[in-house]
Amino acid sequence: MTGTNASAQQHLEPSMVAAALEVAIRAPSIHNTQPWRWRLDDDGLVLLADRERQLRVADPDGHSMMLSCGAALCLTEVGLRATGHDIETTVLPDRSEPDVLARFRTIGRGDAAESDVTLAEVALRRRSDRRPFSRDTVTPDELDTVQRAGSDDHAWVDCPTSEDQRVTLAVAVSWADQIQKHDEALREEMGRWIHDPDVHGEPEGVSVESFPHTSDDEPRRIDVPVRDFEEGVTGRQLIERDVIEKPLIAVVLTEFDNPRDHLAAGHSMMRLMLRAELLGLSTCPLSQAVDFAAFRTRVQGLMNWVGYPQMMLRVGHPIAPKSQLAVTPRRPVSAVLESTV
Ligand SMILES: Cc1cc2nc3c(=O)[nH]c(=O)nc-3n(C[C@H](O)[C@H](O)[C@H](O)COP(=O)(O)O)c2cc1C
Repeated sequence: MTGTNASAQQHLEPSMVAAALEVAIRAPSIHNTQPWRWRLDDDGLVLLADRERQLRVADPDGHSMMLSCGAALCLTEVGLRATGHDIETTVLPDRSEPDVLARFRTIGRGDAAESDVTLAEVALRRRSDRRPFSRDTVTPDELDTVQRAGSDDHAWVDCPTSEDQRVTLAVAVSWADQIQKHDEALREEMGRWIHDPDVHGEPEGVSVESFPHTSDDEPRRIDVPVRDFEEGVTGRQLIERDVIEKPLIAVVLTEFDNPRDHLAAGHSMMRLMLRAELLGLSTCPLSQAVDFAAFRTRVQGLMNWVGYPQMMLRVGHPIAPKSQLAVTPRRPVSAVLESTV
């Protein structure tokens, strides 16, 4: 993310902005809440947090909302570049307006670079892959590439691989997972964001088609537990049952734990996801152990991390083509873009 003021601002055309936001709305968000909106005015485009979509129980301090918006911030940049805009981004431009998360200004126009168009295509086809991964391990080169992609001046990525770290991580995530599983208010709130597309066609929330069913007599053979979305519903994603799962876990860390860090961590997570996708890898967020500030502090201590863990992601080679994954719907651009130009 850059942070200076534009010198020679050029006009942003509404139709081009709408095309760019087709990419941005594909950002991942907690329970697919899509807690974002954009405003286009004579001064440029701004990304805003949509507080009405913040989860009251699961996200009291707005951490997950900011993570989600950080991902949308990254994809707004990707979308604008892919539509031929040379842009400058100012993050949290106005202290008196904390919900204005970023301002984008055009400082040039031209043909989009092929690499920018490719990134936008990748963003459009990315999906959270909740299936077990294939047995092919992530190579040291691939690991290095995704780690670098997610690291910048504001955030960095650690991938615990030693046996001791894996055990501690598994215990930490299981501990957080158990607390969340037994919290009725949390589960009730999550249940309101789980949808069966055959019953309601909502363009938000997590679809039962995108997560598998897990029962006590047929549990997943997994060391670091995944989130259980089955709140009064049965997951319909078909998965192989006899896979021993020990995926790479990438952890995004920041030096401090405030909204600016959460936003930066979302940006970092998105860059990591795009790079993984370019390598043919799958990713899926795994956030039980980082959702709450108290969890982040405890997990930081357990893992001996210098920074605060902001997001964890399972990373691996897909077990079957990603085109088989259900597409989780989004609200249309017209519902999230307000234009006064
Ligand atoms: C902050 C954040 C936390 C998330 N936590 C989890 C999680 O714990 N488990 C999971 O399976 N997906 C998690 N997700 C993924 C979302 O459920 C997913 O992005 C959303 O449903 C949209 O689906 P898509 O990523 O396939 O487009 C998280 C996403 C974000 C941004």
